[in-house]
Formats: sequence, structure tokens, C-alpha cells
Amino acid sequence: MATKTGEGFSSSFGAIMAAAGSAVGLGNIWRFPYICGRYGGGAFLMVYICFVFFIGMILMMSEFVIGRRTGEDPVKAYPKLKPERPAWRFVGLIGLITCFLILSIYLVISGWTLNYFYESAVGTLASIQDSDFGVHFNEFASSVWRPVLFIAVFLALTALVVIGGVEKGVERVSKLLMPILVVLIFLLCIRSVTLKGASAGLTYLFHPDFSKLTGEGILAALGQALFSLSVGMGVMIVYGSYLPKDENILKTSIWITVCDFLIAVLAGVAIFPAVFACGQDPTGGPGLVYQVLPVVFNSMGTIGRVFSIIFFLLLTLAALTSAISLLEALTQWLSGEKLKRTMSAIIMSLIVFVLAAAASFSFGDGIWSGFKISGLQIFDFLDKATGTILPPVCALLTIIFFGWVMNKEDIVDELSNHGTIKVGYFKVFYYFLARFVAPVALLVVLVAGIING
Ligand code: PHE
Repeated sequence: MATKTGEGFSSSFGAIMAAAGSAVGLGNIWRFPYICGRYGGGAFLMVYICFVFFIGMILMMSEFVIGRRTGEDPVKAYPKLKPERPAWRFVGLIGLITCFLILSIYLVISGWTLNYFYESAVGTLASIQDSDFGVHFNEFASSVWRPVLFIAVFLALTALVVIGGVEKGVERVSKLLMPILVVLIFLLCIRSVTLKGASAGLTYLFHPDFSKLTGEGILAALGQALFSLSVGMGVMIVYGSYLPKDENILKTSIWITVCDFLIAVLAGVAIFPAVFACGQDPTGGPGLVYQVLPVVFNSMGTIGRVFSIIFFLLLTLAALTSAISLLEALTQWLSGEKLKRTMSAIIMSLIVFVLAAAASFSFGDGIWSGFKISGLQIFDFLDKATGTILPPVCALLTIIFFGWVMNKEDIVDELSNHGTIKVGYFKVFYYFLARFVAPVALLVVLVAGIING
């Protein structure tokens, strides 16, 4: 079946780079290290690996199958596969709403990152005293216009790529940026592990401390696995609809998952040894990257400034390819015969910009910080909803649809590219995971998480 808009990725390499570009983002480099640090390092890593490979990867394959089989956006894809159960379209809808909410806070953090890239490049960060970085970050993030300005610039870049189209925009930019990103992260890792006292950071990252791995930590690991692989909200259904017909879905998903996982671990390797070598606090939480790393860079002298520029550039580029996928999902859904891609992307960008600005105003001591939704500031509310609640719910419904509602023949036909490639025993194993293991694990973690508050 042709895609809704007739667009698609032109090559296997391009498709993998675009999907990996979506997966590798702030989740890997900003979020993974601090969550891993908070919930027991190696202990968290073990649980995370299980969730990534037994749930996240399975979902990615399933979303690719649903997307490529139908060539539709997530809202139309479900009823197209099961016309007699049209209510399944709501799963697609919840996914898109999740994308919208994620994009709004993603933009806030991307705006901070772009600002830090700018401040490293012009030398502002290098002139700040070590003890002042916390204040600097809070003052900046809680201020009114500066964060919003950077959000606007970042969003404009994202929208330009999406307007460029699937092949000439999304695919081309991902093919260029992803290899650069890999080189940058390796450079940072080498510098970090060769610092004096770096080994304590590696121990911290890989040594399991089970006392810190709480129930909340396990739910966080699941949320992080889904978030990091960009699954559980329909983005991979969208990219699946652009996959070439001869792409091997099983292999592609394995590649992307491994790549995403390794980059998260490499981000930990780039960050923790440096943090320890400079005597900083590894449990710095969300501020780790903005408050602790600049201290580390400043302690390295002139070369530190170069590494600071490289790091924040890396983070900005990683965020860009992920934001592109979120905006692409929303744009694909909105565009149709009446509304062209350009107009759809612009409308979506304007709406999401308003929510992003509201989230930014509510952050920290911002002007809207007093406004609360169920006791949380707008930013924290969105972070919680999109980090731990909505993606697991949507993922659970998707996998139930895949394993129990969709026709098995359709699945096998799509996985084997109409019988032209062998999928062997893996097909059986995968189907078993999708039908039993993934839904039960998702349900248990979700219910336990909700009960524990
Ligand atoms: N996977 C991206 C990251 O790790 C975030 C993302 C989530 C992108 C959902 C698209 C959809 O940063």
C-alpha cells in the first residue's frame, strides 16, 4: 500500500538514520545519565536493558509493522487493519496527543541546550565561577523571554526540516547529523575516561547498587526505555509508513535499539567519569548537564571550552532529530488533501509553541510557577504525564492490538516482506514476547507504579 502522502525514505541507510535520529535524543544524553545515577547505577542499567530489549524493541517492530502495512498515520492505521473495531483509532489519538505534549517540554529543554551551546561558543560559560552555575541555570530557566527566544529558534529549525519533506528534509538531515553525533560522543568519552580519577565514575555507572532501585525506579526504567526508543506514542508507526518495502523490519529494529542503547551508555561514560574526576555531585538530577558539566569543562582550561562547545552541539543535534520526528508525526496527521505539508507544519508549530512557552514560564521560579495542575507546575505535570504515564498506557494498548487483535497472517507477511525474506524462529519468539511477555510486564509495572503513587 502506498503512503498517505506518497512520501517515504529513499534508502535503507536513510531510514535507519532517521529512526535512530528519532530515538537518540535528550533522552539518551540528558535524561538517561541522571536517572541511572538516581536509581542505583548498574542496578538500574540491568532492569533498563530488559525493558529495552524485551518491551521497547518489540514495540518498535510492532509499530513499524502497523505503519508500513497501512501506510497511514496512527489514527487511521488501527481501523484500517481492523475495520470492524474502529474504536482502536483512539489509541492512535492518545499517541498523537502524547507526541504533542512531549514536544512541548522537549522544546523547552532543547531551548536551554541551544542557549548553553551559544553561551559556550561566545565564552559566557567560561567566565562563570564554579559555585555560580546553579544560580546561573535557575536564573536563565526561570527568566521570561530568553528561554522562549531559544525555543522559537530551535522550533523554527525543526519546522524547516519537516517542511522540506520526508526524503529531502528528515532523511537528508538525519543522514548528515547522526554520524557527526557518533563521532562527537566518542571524542567526549575518550576525554572523560582519560581524566585522573575517572574510574570512580565508571564504577558508579556500572556497579549495581540495589538499595537505590525502588519501585519508582523500575517504573522510571520502563518510562525511560519507551521514551528513549520513541515508542508508545505512534512516532514509529509514522516512520514505519515511510519504510522502504524491502526493508527488513526485524533487523532494522534491532540495529536501532542497539544503537540507541549504546549511545545512552556512552553518554553515561562521557559524563560520570568527568563528574567524579572533578569532584562534582553525580546525583545532580535534571540539572546535571547544565549545572555540573560546565564546572567540569571549566576545570579543564582552554580545551574544556572546546569540549563544552562539542557537548552542547551534540546535545542540540540529538534533540533536533528527535523533535523533527515528533513534529513530523503531528504534521503527517494534520496534512491531507486540503491542508498541505507546509501549512500543517506551521499550524502545529504555532500551537505547540504556545504550550512550550507556558511550560517554560512555569519552570522553577518562573512567572507562572504559582499555577498548578494537580499540585504540579505545568512543566512538572507535562514531564510526569509524558515520562511515566501516557507512553506505557499507549504502549500497552498498542501491543495488545498487535498481539491479540491484528491478523497473524498480516504480521508474518509484513515481517517477511511478503515471504521474500526468512524470519525463521525469531518470528515465533517475537510473537510470543509481543503476545504475552510485553503486555504482562507493561501491565504489572504500570499498576505497581500507579499504586505506589
Ligand atoms: N527518543 C527521544 C529521546 O530519547 C525522545 C522522543 C520520544 C522522540 C518520543 C520521539 C518520540 O530523546
